[in-house]
This record gives sequence, C-alpha cells and structure tokens, in this order.
Amino acid sequence: MASLTIRKLDDAVKTYLRLRSAKNRRSVEEEVRVILRELIEGREEPLTPFSAPPAQSTAPTPQRTGAAPEASVTLIIGGGIAAYKSLDLIRRLKERRVEVRCVLTKAAQQFVTPLAVSALSHERVYTDLFDPQSEFDAGHIRLARGCDLIVVAPATADLMAKMANGHADDLASAILLATNRKILLAPAMNPLMWNNAATRRNLAQLQRDGVVLVGPNSGEMAEAGEAGVGRMSEAIEIANAAERLLRPPVPKPLAGKRVLITAGPTHEPIDPVRYIANRSSGKQGFAIAAAAQAAGAEVILVSGPVDLDDPAGVTVKHVESARQMLEQVQAALPADIAIFAAAVADWRVANEGEQKLKKTSAGMPPLQLVENPDILATISKLTDKRPPLVIGFAAETEHLIDNAKTKLARKGCDWIVANDVSPATGVMGGDRNTVHLLSRKGGEIAVDSWPVMTKEQVAIELVAHIARSVTDKSREPAS
Ligand SMILES: Cc1cc2nc3c(=O)[nH]c(=O)nc-3n(C[C@H](O)[C@H](O)[C@H](O)COP(=O)(O)O)c2cc1C
Repeated sequence: MASLTIRKLDDAVKTYLRLRSAKNRRSVEEEVRVILRELIEGREEPLTPFSAPPAQSTAPTPQRTGAAPEASVTLIIGGGIAAYKSLDLIRRLKERRVEVRCVLTKAAQQFVTPLAVSALSHERVYTDLFDPQSEFDAGHIRLARGCDLIVVAPATADLMAKMANGHADDLASAILLATNRKILLAPAMNPLMWNNAATRRNLAQLQRDGVVLVGPNSGEMAEAGEAGVGRMSEAIEIANAAERLLRPPVPKPLAGKRVLITAGPTHEPIDPVRYIANRSSGKQGFAIAAAAQAAGAEVILVSGPVDLDDPAGVTVKHVESARQMLEQVQAALPADIAIFAAAVADWRVANEGEQKLKKTSAGMPPLQLVENPDILATISKLTDKRPPLVIGFAAETEHLIDNAKTKLARKGCDWIVANDVSPATGVMGGDRNTVHLLSRKGGEIAVDSWPVMTKEQVAIELVAHIARSVTDKSREPAS
C-alpha cells in the first residue's frame, strides 16, 4: 500500500522523501513511517477512541522548536550514580541536531526523574515494558528500531550482564535485544564491579557482538576514598562518540583532483537586448559540481545564465556566450577531469546589432548565423593540458545512442553522458534525468544505461564512476 501511495504523490513531495530517506539511510517507505509516527506522536488527542487513557506518569510533549533533527537516538539510562550526567548528554545530543527518546530503568528513576528527562528531551519518557499507551503498537520495537542509534548511559554492570546473556525482562533490556541498530555503551560502575570476572566476561561477549564502547574513564568514584577505572565518560565524550557513529566521516575519493565543469545554456546576442538561447536549466551540471565538491575535488564551474544558487565550496565563473565559456574553460586548465554538461549554442549571430534592431517596413532583419567554437572538441583535442578524463554530454531528441556514439568518436572525448531531451521526457528544466554512459572499451563503445533518477542522483552516480576510474587509473567507467 505504501509504494502505491508514494507513486501517486506530487513530484515535489516524492523528491523531498527521496532526499530525506537517502540522508537518513532509510527506504522511502521506512521514512514515510517515521514521518507518520512523528506526526501521530505529536498529537494531543488519543490516536483512536479505543486507545488507553494517558498514564498518570506520562510526561507532557511540548512543541518541538529549533532546527529539524538529522538523526535520532534512543537513550537508555541505567540505574547508576552517573545518571545525572545523562541529563547533560541529552542536551549535547540535541545541540548536534539529534532527536533523543529516553528510556529509564526502574533503578534509573531513583537517580533522575522522568519529568526532568522529559523536559530536557522534549519527548515523552518510556519506563515500562507493559505500558498500554506505547505498547498498543509494540512501542518497544519502535524504540528499538525507529532510531539510528541506541546509547546506554550509564551502562550498569547489571544492564551489561542482561545484554550479554540476552535477557528481556524489562523495557531497556527488551529494546536492546530487539534492536538491529548499533549500540553505544558508556559503562559506569565501581572499579571492583568493572574488574569483576563476571563483568569482564560480559564485556568480552558484548564486544564480540559488535557493541561499541566509550569509556569508562579512570578517576575518583562517588564512593568516598575510591578511585580507579569505572567513571562514566563525560557527556561531551559520549555525544562525540555517538556523532561518529551517526555521521561517519564521508569518504573523499576525489581529494586532490581538480574538476572543471560547464553548465547551463549560453546566450548568443542578436543585439544589446535580444539573444538566442535554449531551455537548459543548468541543474544537471550544478548537481555534478556539488557532488564532485562533496567527493573532495576542487571544482571550477563555468556556468551560462541560470536561475540557480552557486553550489557551496565551488568556484563559479558566470558567462553568457559560447565564446566567453570557452575562454573561461581554457583559463581554468589544467584540470584532472573536465565535464562539459553545458548546452552550448551551436550557432551565434554573425551580424550582431550594436543598437537595438528596429521594426521597419522593410520586414524582418536577416539573421546571419555562424558556427560557435566547439568547446568539447577543442579541449578533447588539445595536445598540451588536455585533462586526462574528458566527459561530454549529448542531449538528443532522436536516435539517442547512435547520435551519442557518433559524437563520442567525432569529439575525441573519453565518455559521453547521453540523455533524451525530447519535450515528453521533461528533462530540460526538470528534476529527473534518464542517462546512458558511453565509453570506449577496447575498440568498442560500451553503453551503460541507468534507470530514471533525480539529477542529484545522476550526479552522485557519475562522480562515483569517475572516482572508481581515477582510482583504477583507467579511463573506462567501472560497471
Ligand atoms: C547509590 C547507588 C549507586 C549505584 N551506582 C551504580 C553504578 O554506578 N553502576 C552500576 O553498575 N550499578 C550501580 N548501582 C547498582 C544498580 O543500581 C543496580 O544494580 C540496579 O539493579 C541496576 O538496575 P538497571 O541496570 O536496571 O538500571 C548503584 C546502586 C546504588 C544504591
């Protein structure tokens, strides 16, 4: 049912869902479920007339404020003296745009109150496995899997023992057993408990199970006169460890590479106020520039007139005509990779008027057209400063692959990205693209056809091919 509904949504909504689900590394269906859940949880009234009345201990759910969270954590607070530090941890996680849902064990409630935790997390707090309010739809499973990470802080000796042995007799241990998310433990206990043979065994088992640890640190204990290893890590250390798991460092496969990209249409003047143009929006070239920059490349984008913001971290040279575009491209060399995505006008007006052409009784002024410089062919055929990988775009309205193959041979570039721009496809100015990547393989031309994707996804895919090719030291795209 979900996929049927998604297909029927507006394009803008679908694009939003795809981007949001890609960012959160969830399927689109899963993302829709998360959004619906958030919506339902934010409701003041009961979900259905049949749901249980609010439990007395249910904390209020204040309005969320500030920037939208980018990740979510289920924080399990165990019954240790260090539980007070978890209040600061909630704040530190929220500062990092992490949504925090807290679970308190029975023992934890002796150290911090659900009210304080709820007030800081701006969420209701969960304490009971058999809570009719949250278990009407198996809430412990939601807490176990509807998050990106589970953090246990403080992780008591008891919680570690339960985890290592697969117990599920309260909400915290049931969540820990039912999850398929990464678990981060911040142990906190007396040094004798930490060094006890049973805890050592449990710890070794948990590490074999893939649980990640932060701390414990060494220092003074709450118990007078005791010191040693067992102090829970500081909130900021735990938040940083959680952030590393939530947002692992992005690989930069194009680090140290200089990438030159052209985008958009060109405007060829007829007179000071009129010009010849085409329908290119520049979106595909801009998306490639952003993807190459995200992959660590130094990016120079030479753009014709477009209605787009400059991508962050990219050097953008704005031009109008094909001749200006060629000039900026030549000035930007040398480059390791050149991608010519601009829809450069093939012709310009030879007799460009110095003044605005006037309507006269003599009829329409004759427009003499002359050929523009061919930027792709010019750069592909350079003997000096030719980028090692030159990629052209072929926008065709008929015989797409045949025309693209001819273009690859004629222009002397290494790859061609061919796309059908006939009006029915909506590619020109639209947000989606269906492309075929043509490359030389031995004496043959290989064609790799990609499914319909957003222009951002096409850009990411192309950059991934480039990265693999650069790594392989081969000009042929990896399949
Ligand atoms: C004052 C006090 C402090 C405690 N501190 C800790 C602690 O730091 N670490 C720990 O593992 N247990 C500690 N305990 C023992 C736990 O509270 C106890 O094992 C409890 O059953 C843990 O429950 P939980 O794991 O479900 O939270 C403490 C107990 C008391 C009375």
